[in-house]
Amino acid sequence: VTPVPGFPAPTTHSQQAYSPFDTFTSRWTRADARQIKARSNPNVAVGANSMPTSVTMPDIPANFPQTNPDVWLWDTWTLIDAHANQFSYNGWEVIFSLTADPNAGYTFDDRHVHARISYFYRRAGIPASARPRNGGWIYGGHLFPDGASVKVFGSTTLTNNAEWSGSTRLLKTDGNEVVVFYTALGFNRTADGTNITPPVAIISKANGTIHADLNHVWFTGFNNHTGLLQPDGTYYQTGQQNEFYSFRDPFTFEDPQHPGQTFMVFEGNTAGERGAKDCTAADLGYQAGDPYAEDLDTVLNSGATYQKANIGLAVSTDSSLTRWRFLPPLISANCVNDQTERPQIYIKDGKYYLFTISHRTTFAAGMDGPDGVYGFVGNGLRSDFEPLNWGSGLALGNPTDLNTAAGSDFDPDPQQNPRAFQAYSHYVMPNGLVESFIDTVEGRRGGALAPTVKIQISDATTQIDLSYGQNGLGGYGNIPANRYDLDFQGF
Ligand code: FRU
Repeated sequence: VTPVPGFPAPTTHSQQAYSPFDTFTSRWTRADARQIKARSNPNVAVGANSMPTSVTMPDIPANFPQTNPDVWLWDTWTLIDAHANQFSYNGWEVIFSLTADPNAGYTFDDRHVHARISYFYRRAGIPASARPRNGGWIYGGHLFPDGASVKVFGSTTLTNNAEWSGSTRLLKTDGNEVVVFYTALGFNRTADGTNITPPVAIISKANGTIHADLNHVWFTGFNNHTGLLQPDGTYYQTGQQNEFYSFRDPFTFEDPQHPGQTFMVFEGNTAGERGAKDCTAADLGYQAGDPYAEDLDTVLNSGATYQKANIGLAVSTDSSLTRWRFLPPLISANCVNDQTERPQIYIKDGKYYLFTISHRTTFAAGMDGPDGVYGFVGNGLRSDFEPLNWGSGLALGNPTDLNTAAGSDFDPDPQQNPRAFQAYSHYVMPNGLVESFIDTVEGRRGGALAPTVKIQISDATTQIDLSYGQNGLGGYGNIPANRYDLDFQGF
């Protein structure tokens, strides 16, 4: 990659594969992340999109439909096998979403501490153009029985608990047993939201059974919830080290290069005391003699050390996927960004893509980039990952003016692009389809499924497919199965 004038060169990443059990952790460096700003146009009109079209999600219209007026939904995932194929069940497509009650007296921004996993279903095999505008998803209710997920906390003192993101596996593709991997969150807070003790995040699982008839889909089971992983403080930061730590969003899969093993990627932070000034020259990642390199001490004293995300890896040590062992992180973003969320492994043409979502406001001092999905490519599950697109890592961002202050979804900067927070929690599906949820469009809050978009993925590049749907926007909540039940005869 030839550096953009005025900007440093990105770090050289070989894409070389290591054993998943190796201690090598790849780095998303400051030199890499600065390639985002390098590709931003400094001369656009205030509040326009300053990023290239190829990495920008098209504008969502402000008159978007609600998925369901009686429920807010956000992070959403599908019923998958060990290779992220999306299955229908007895002729129904099924999705799982974090949800909250819009009529319970709290705001959309306070939804997280009330999150419950719910499910939705719709008939499979109908083209998006023949569905209702909102995608036609039928709300099935909460997935877990009331009072079940709190049990993983035992006798810990909590003021409330929530169910955060994860993934749902169909254990045998011709069966009906499912296992949900999710994050059990326990809070102990004062009425104004201050932590009395740090939140407790436990990556957990619950087994259940899916059922369907001609009219509806339902689940049984999920009474027993098992805690699988809590951060170790060595690879993954604990709540004692930093009350604002992230430890969540399990995604499990089998690696064709290591058959018979089940792995999990998840969102973590680099272990150590909050803000410790220990980012290294390797985390900065500048080439020797780069005239645009930063001085390490300057970075260490800039506040950037408060942002140290990683993407964790664990391996299951038993066939029921109940026992797990931490492995070193796949990638770290020390002094680059604080959150690498909902990670997933996506294999295409023999390449391993690690996709993750992140926010503009979680970038470290001196770094910038839009809200959206970021990606890295290597030759194996553990690789010296190369950040996609000019070495930057940005795969698909919201329309954003990087020349203007970020604001936030709950307190927008009037100068900022009114779609800078239009969507979040993107998940890359088979064939490059990308689903997400609507957060804010022109000040209108969402809590609904966004229009599905499509990216073309090839080597170290991705590009929005503007021929998909209408100018790149597919159906709202168009989340199709790519595997249909063999025995389904049609309704
Ligand atoms: C992403 C996310 C996830 C978390 C959930 C909580 O949108 O931050 O990491 O599981 O939202 O609501």
